[in-house]
Amino acid sequence: MVNTAGPSRLLLAIESSCDETAAAVVREDGCVLSSIVASQHEFHLEWGGVVPEIASRAHVQRILPVIQAALKAADCTTSQLAAVAVTTEPGLVGSLLVGLTAAKTIAMGLGIPLVTVNHVEAHIYACGMGRPDSIYPCVGFVVSGGHTNLYDCRSASECQLIGGTTDDAAGEAFDKVARILGLPYPGGPSVQKAALAGDPRRFKMPRPLLHSGRLDFSFSGLKTAVLYAARGVPGPAQLTETPPDRVADLAAAFQAAAVDVLVEKCRLALQQLQYRRLCVGGGVAANQAFRNQLTAMATRLKIDLQIAPMELCTDNAAMAAIAWEHLAAGRIASLDADVLPGLVRHDFRNQKT
Ligand code: KG4
Ligand code: ZN
Repeated sequence: MVNTAGPSRLLLAIESSCDETAAAVVREDGCVLSSIVASQHEFHLEWGGVVPEIASRAHVQRILPVIQAALKAADCTTSQLAAVAVTTEPGLVGSLLVGLTAAKTIAMGLGIPLVTVNHVEAHIYACGMGRPDSIYPCVGFVVSGGHTNLYDCRSASECQLIGGTTDDAAGEAFDKVARILGLPYPGGPSVQKAALAGDPRRFKMPRPLLHSGRLDFSFSGLKTAVLYAARGVPGPAQLTETPPDRVADLAAAFQAAAVDVLVEKCRLALQQLQYRRLCVGGGVAANQAFRNQLTAMATRLKIDLQIAPMELCTDNAAMAAIAWEHLAAGRIASLDADVLPGLVRHDFRNQKT
């Protein structure tokens, strides 16, 4: 991190929408002075996924130390803060409430503006951080543990949902497949690592909705296909564990199928919207096979591809720097602002092609 805290205006950003407690200090010109992320992976490991109640309790314990660490790393005091930003949607209700309560308290105590941030808009905004020019308009794609959403992004705060998953999110499918294969949580990095030693052609996997002509996704059938290939079809002879010789090949076959679908839907969205820029963020955007295949597609079609930098793919508070855009537009939140845990759902099955 660049440590150049001067007289310029500083923003304290807080993120607690899922299982990362995070705080950052970002200067008005977008320079990230500090970004602290306390992950809770060790608490959720034995459950193979995020347990909301455990996540909320861990946020309560960590939020103040994380904020203090972010201020210290930026070499800044609270008197230098011009505003406090916090993620209020979408996410786990208990987790979001912890961040919002901390942010409101700071805003009230210091008499500075409170700015609320939409987590998926922030994931897309992260793709442009550190760039001199704007990334908008673009096709925005947020691929994480909770989302597999395509957006028509006209500006930082005008992102219209144009496609998404009808069942599991892509990251959730990575996490569940890891569980089936006996690999540790979080599943994405474990599956990626196992796949390196695997042959993606040994097991044939479905590519759900690949040629539907619509911008919708479905990962539950792919996940079930992995389960059956790993342990056999349901019945008395079904195995309870995946034989070790199948793990790497199944991880590779699953990853190849999921990545094929993700990349093809990006291509379709670009074609439908006639945009030349694609911005991809969220935890799954850290996947190397996905990054490689996106890059190949973008090169072939001469698309300007912006994938979020690695450290900004998974949840962090630095991407809440989008709050500077909201402040500039006068979008200051009231101190009785509330959280909005759910994402507006669309029925993509009825979408016209
Ligand atoms: O954006 P994120 O940190 O949190 C949510 O908003 O959900 O994304 C976490 C998700 C998890 O499902 C995790 O398994 C997945 O991103 N993930 C990956 C990789 N790194 C994280 N998936 C595939 N490959 C990776 N390298
Ligand atoms: Zn996220």
